[in-house]
Amino acid sequence: MFMKVLITGGNGNLGRLVAASLESSGTQVISFDLPGTLGAFSKIRHATVLGDIRNHELLKRVLETHKPNAIIHLASMLSGSSEANPSAAWDINASASISLMRLCLEKVDGPFFFASTAATYGPDLTSPVILDTPQWPENVYGATKVAVERMGVYLKICQNLDFRCIRFPMVLSPLAPTGAITAYPSHAIVAATRGEAFDFPVDCMTGMSTIYLNDVTRSIIEICQAKRRDLRHHIYNLHSFYFDTQQLANAIKARYPSFEYTFQPGTSVDNLIRRWPNEFDDQAARQDWGWKPKYDFSATIEALSNATHE
Ligand SMILES: NC(=O)c1ccc[n+]([C@@H]2O[C@H](COP(=O)([O-])OP(=O)(O)OC[C@H]3O[C@@H](n4cnc5c(N)ncnc54)[C@H](O)[C@@H]3O)[C@@H](O)[C@H]2O)c1
Repeated sequence: MFMKVLITGGNGNLGRLVAASLESSGTQVISFDLPGTLGAFSKIRHATVLGDIRNHELLKRVLETHKPNAIIHLASMLSGSSEANPSAAWDINASASISLMRLCLEKVDGPFFFASTAATYGPDLTSPVILDTPQWPENVYGATKVAVERMGVYLKICQNLDFRCIRFPMVLSPLAPTGAITAYPSHAIVAATRGEAFDFPVDCMTGMSTIYLNDVTRSIIEICQAKRRDLRHHIYNLHSFYFDTQQLANAIKARYPSFEYTFQPGTSVDNLIRRWPNEFDDQAARQDWGWKPKYDFSATIEALSNATHE
């Protein structure tokens, strides 16, 4: 267990949960995120620093002051905002991440975890997608993540950075913002609990490789705690389950019999998701550090429904 961990993006969806989980087992968390992100769900950690990840001098001071034993780097622009501002996405997701990896080499004696994404692969791949499938993303978000993966592996091989990285598939979360258009499964459940009808912005057959939020949080902590010598791959893919939207609608209807819905094939979300893989081969993660999802499709629907009622 680490004494102190710096979590960038510490007020985000994943950051808050990873921080809470680490704190519950005695780790001191230094949370770093943008000013204005301390919302209703945020908690003041051992230390909370508000600033921009592009501020190299500030991060240097944070590492010198708090001396963390590991960095969990989650700060990022996500896919929609990256596409809207590719230049900022490159600065924040790629350049600032690479700068932070260099600082980690200088100041931290421990792992650097990087949250990558299945979006680093291009569309229309055959499932299951194997780990070493060539990565040709068609969006800037994926391109920035590939850049960090490459530089992380270079710094690991040439300068001994303890670089650890997971490519996550679609994450289902009860905290999904309403603007996150690919989070329609969570939004449909919220609508059902309110007795509202829902228009799925996809075809009934559309679906993709998915993982539940709690398994993501656990996987980040587990890979950081794994022995370095056991990690025989530079980067790992994860996969929990696949479901199509008809299965989702049926599962919601079984819980909320009055739930009414339609499918809207051919939308931009549909065209995006139907080209994403249904499955990633995650054997490497299972073998090297014992990855195993706890949430299958029905456990995820139950967890999302329970969280929505809370
Ligand atoms: N949620 C998913 O489906 C998913 C899938 C694959 C990978 N990831 C990756 O996991 C990580 C966390 O994602 P999340 O779902 O928690 O997203 P999130 O948007 O909730 O969290 C990202 C955090 O980064 C912070 N941030 C953005 N720009 C910053 C800057 N310039 N300086 C400092 N902080 C900045 C944001 O304020 C936010 O709190 C990201 O790297 C993301 O790319 C997420």
